[in-house]
Amino acid sequence: MAPKKTYITCELTELDLSELDATSQSLISEAKQAAERAYAPYSQFLVGAAVLLNNGKVFAANNQENVSFPVGTCAERLALGYAHGLEPDAKPVKLAIVARRAEEPTRFAAVTPCGMCRQCISEYEVKFKQEIEILILTPNQRVLVADGIRQFLPFKFEDLNH
Ligand code: THU
Repeated sequence: MAPKKTYITCELTELDLSELDATSQSLISEAKQAAERAYAPYSQFLVGAAVLLNNGKVFAANNQENVSFPVGTCAERLALGYAHGLEPDAKPVKLAIVARRAEEPTRFAAVTPCGMCRQCISEYEVKFKQEIEILILTPNQRVLVADGIRQFLPFKFEDLNH
């Protein structure tokens, strides 16, 4: 008998920046500004992330590198930790991610969150029982939108008690 196979799909919606609602456009703009303040002397890869909470507050952060490379932290995890550290009862509803190489001031690189950041995003989705919409700016001023982290992290580890 043929082995059972499981296939998964990933759904991303690609929109023009101008097609996004004003809140999402402004979140991307916050992420862009945060990327400009990134501390990335080793990779020269500037990443900004901005989180919108359900109370309307926005927290933005960027990648912070270290001469001992693994100590460096991604923009997404810092933004989420910053938001949740200050507003522990507010649900994160959207996360915008923007990146560019230091030598390319106007061209944005589409980045999807790294594995650790995917798990971190999942943590807050599970805590608040709500998906976090992820918005990623692409080089041609378009935006990839994912409903939640399941689009990037299928089969995720969720619950120690199951
Ligand atoms: N980085 C992020 O901040 N977020 C991502 O989604 C991908 C990678 C950072 C980590 C490191 O400082 C630099 O980008 C190059 O990997």
